[in-house]
Amino acid sequence: MYQDIQEVLIRREEISNAVKMLGDMITHDYKGKEPIMVCILKGASIFYADLLRSVDLPVHMDFMIVSSYGNGTTSSGNVRIRRDLDEDVAGRDVILVEDIVDSGVTLFFLSRIMKERGASTVKIATLLDKPAGRKVDIKADYFCFTVPEEFVVGYGLDYAEKYRNLPDICVLKPEIYASKES
Ligand code: IMP
Ligand code: MG
Repeated sequence: MYQDIQEVLIRREEISNAVKMLGDMITHDYKGKEPIMVCILKGASIFYADLLRSVDLPVHMDFMIVSSYGNGTTSSGNVRIRRDLDEDVAGRDVILVEDIVDSGVTLFFLSRIMKERGASTVKIATLLDKPAGRKVDIKADYFCFTVPEEFVVGYGLDYAEKYRNLPDICVLKPEIYASKES
């Protein structure tokens, strides 16, 4: 798959170290609590699996599928829940685990929903933060890396459902998506 890659932005060793540090921070901040850690599928799946094993707390796992993107590289601005939580979040500490905060629309929407459902606290843990893409006022409580305004793939992140299984975070060659978008 690396023939489609222009540049490796963040190597697997760096990712691993940053995810462990983030896990330690959550362990420290939520001492004595049992947070529900919500994986936003599919992009956060690999980050989630690594992060949870670095959190030394009795966390609950739950999963959501939301879509806002389609197959392109820019947000549609609409968020739809396609798979909802099993757990009731009322009175619970919720940590939304996401692959990347770009426009912020997805997490703005999900944070609001969790609060409406009565969660006592809602925090956001994201692997990547892309502040240049922001369209709504939201910030990640925990993040591993800030990335420039470029479309990235790997370690769970896709372009048209491909490249999620790349172990590093990479920038695609522009011609890979240039042919599909006008
Ligand atoms: P937001 O709602 O614009 O913040 O977008 C969040 C979602 O857009 C993420 O969960 C990703 O699935 C997708 N996304 C945003 N930027 C990228 C990127 O650079 N690569 C892959 N997916 C991205
Ligand atoms: Mg995606």
